[in-house]
Amino acid sequence: MLNWDDNNRTESSVTTTTAPVTGVAKKTSTIHKHWSQTQKTLETTQKPVRAEDKRVVNGQTDINQLAPFKYAWAWEFFLNANKNHWTPSDINMTKDVYDYQHRLTPDERHVYENVLAYLTTSDILAMRNIGLAVMEKMTAPELQIYQARQVYEESMHTWCYQHCIETLGLEQSEIYNRYRVVPQINKKIELANQRLHSVLRSDIDLNDKDELQNFVMSYLFFAGVFEGCWFYNGFSPIFALQRRGLMTGTGEQFQYIMRDEVLHCAFGIRVVKQIIMENDVTLDPKQLRQMWDEAEAAEQAYAHYLFPRPIVGYSVQDHIEQFRFVANRRAKQLNLETPFPNAKNVLSWLDEQANLRKEKNFFETRVTEYQTGGALSWD
Ligand SMILES: [Fe+2]
Ligand SMILES: [Fe+2]
Repeated sequence: MLNWDDNNRTESSVTTTTAPVTGVAKKTSTIHKHWSQTQKTLETTQKPVRAEDKRVVNGQTDINQLAPFKYAWAWEFFLNANKNHWTPSDINMTKDVYDYQHRLTPDERHVYENVLAYLTTSDILAMRNIGLAVMEKMTAPELQIYQARQVYEESMHTWCYQHCIETLGLEQSEIYNRYRVVPQINKKIELANQRLHSVLRSDIDLNDKDELQNFVMSYLFFAGVFEGCWFYNGFSPIFALQRRGLMTGTGEQFQYIMRDEVLHCAFGIRVVKQIIMENDVTLDPKQLRQMWDEAEAAEQAYAHYLFPRPIVGYSVQDHIEQFRFVANRRAKQLNLETPFPNAKNVLSWLDEQANLRKEKNFFETRVTEYQTGGALSWD
C-alpha cells in the first residue's frame, strides 16, 4: 500500500531486476553502472509530487497526477461548474417564436439577431482559446480539468445560440456569416483572433520573458475583456427584453450561460494573477491601456450598430457606460488601475437580472432551481 510520502517504485520491481544475469565481471560492472544511473533517474522522476513544486506554467511535476493539490481553488471551480447542468433543449422556446414574430419591433429584432450573430462566433473562439491555446500550456492537472469543463460549456453555449436560431427559423448561414460582413462585429472578433493566434502555437517557450508576457496578456484579455466584459455586455440587451416579458426562453438560456461565464471569468483572472505571482511578471501599463482603449472603441462601434435608435429601457449610452463600469470591476479583480474612472452603474438591474433564482424567474418560462450553490456575483 502506497501513500503520498512513498516513492512510486514498488518493491517487486526492485527485486526482480537487481541481480546481474551473467557471471562476466566486465558485463556485470556495466550493468551495475547502467542500473545505478537508471536508479538515479527513477529516484528523480518518480519522487512523489509535492504541491509546492507545482506551477501554473513551466512546471516540472507529473501532469498526470492530480493530488496533492496546490490549486485547491481550481478543483472547487470544477465542482461548482458541475452544479450547472442544463441543455438548451430543456428550455421552452414557444413564447419566443411568438414574440419574435408578433411582439418585437423591427429595432428589437435587429438587436436580437445581431446579439446572436456576435455570440455564435464568440463562443467558438472562447472554446478554441481555452481548449487549443491555453490548456496545453498549463502544468498542473487541476487547472486543466476545470478548463476541460470550460471547453464543454463553451460548446454548450454555441448549441444554445444554434437552438435559438433554429427554433425561430432564422437564416443560419446569414446569421453565422454576419460577423464577416458587419465591420462593427468583425472588429471585436478580429481583436480576439489576434490574441488567439499569438498564443496558438506549439513552439512557444514560456520560459522566454516576452513570450510569457504575451501569453499572460492574451489570457487576461480573454478572461477580463472577452468573457468578463464583452459577454456580460453581449447578454444585457437580451436581459432588457426579458425584463419586459419578451424573448424569455432566450433570456433564461442566457442566464444559464451567464452562470458559466461568471466562473470562466473569475477562474481566468485567478490563473493570470497566479502566473504573475509565480513568475514575477510585470505588466506593461501602456499595453494594458491599449487593451482597454481598443476594447472600448470596438464596443462603442458595436453598440452604435446594435442601437441605431434606443429600444425601451436600453440605449447605446447605457451599453457603453455599462461596459466601462464592468471593465473597472475586472481591473480591480486583477489588482490593476481602473481604466474608466467615474463610470456609472447605469444598468443597476443587470446583476439581479443575470442571477437565475426561482423567485426571480417569474415570467412564463420553466421554474427551475438551476444551481444549488446560490446566487453568484460578478465580483
Ligand atoms: Fe461561453
Ligand atoms: Fe466562457
